[in-house]
Amino acid sequence: MTVFITGASAGIGYALTLHYLKHGYSVAAIARREAKLQALYQEPQCRYGHLKIYAADVTQKQIMADVVATVEKDLGPIELAIANAGITAQNLEAKLDLEQVEQLMQTNVIGVANTLAPVIDAMLLRGRGQIVGISSMAALHALPRISAYCASKVAVNYLLEGLYRDLKPHGIHVTTICPSFVDTDMTVKEQVPNHLCMQREVAIAKIVRAIGQRRRFYCFPYWSYHFLNILSILPNVVQGSVLNYVAERWFPRPIVMDSTL
Ligand SMILES: NC(=O)c1ccc[n+]([C@@H]2O[C@H](COP(=O)([O-])OP(=O)(O)OC[C@H]3O[C@@H](n4cnc5c(N)ncnc54)[C@H](OP(=O)(O)O)[C@@H]3O)[C@@H](O)[C@H]2O)c1
Repeated sequence: MTVFITGASAGIGYALTLHYLKHGYSVAAIARREAKLQALYQEPQCRYGHLKIYAADVTQKQIMADVVATVEKDLGPIELAIANAGITAQNLEAKLDLEQVEQLMQTNVIGVANTLAPVIDAMLLRGRGQIVGISSMAALHALPRISAYCASKVAVNYLLEGLYRDLKPHGIHVTTICPSFVDTDMTVKEQVPNHLCMQREVAIAKIVRAIGQRRRFYCFPYWSYHFLNILSILPNVVQGSVLNYVAERWFPRPIVMDSTL
């Protein structure tokens, strides 16, 4: 069985690639940084599965269509596609940074669409398959300082939720995964306090279980999901105080950008 994973050069995507290789799958690993993808070949999990890497940018529509066609030639029909590639950014000033909004939407929303459209076309011909979007719990509430990221993940959730209903009658299953903080380069770059981040292995185990169970929608950890749901029915003034408090605790410092991450 062939698994297609974007954002495989780091973090959640890298770990998912290793998981599926370890269990004997053929994995197509996609990201822009080829050197980071090459490192996957050195991992012991490669002995059990079949890995092929593809350097590509998810914001490029034609390139992603070509990559999907090449993967199907190289590794066979894609049975599971995980649209995981994503970026985040904070805005510590009380104004809208248009360039930031554009980058987030291009990668997190258009990138997911560019990834999934050619995969869905191929799956529709076969009448089977599963597509997964790694969204975020940030889709459940507009958080101060990361509102553009939240907006991009809301778009991902709605896109996938609609696709779930469109594709189900055609034998294609759609799964939306919304993690809270996970220990990856992303949370290091954003300086999220370590104690708020779930260990990567724990998060990967939860994600692959939800994918295996073909869950429609899976948010974790459960307590954060319930916390946000309860918050959304409280009066606006309470929501505002709580969200400002958590933003201050979660994103307290100006970001020092590190181009190596
Ligand atoms: N970590 C968290 O706390 C957390 C929480 C909720 C949701 N998520 C979501 O989980 C996903 C993975 O995040 P992560 O924490 O693993 O982040 P990460 O460690 O920063 O990895 C991000 C991955 O996305 C790839 N990527 C970014 N832009 C790309 C582009 N234009 N084309 C192709 N690949 C691109 C990166 O590869 P290249 O740079 O090599 O292209 C990298 O492999 C994201 O969608 C993120 O929003 C993360």
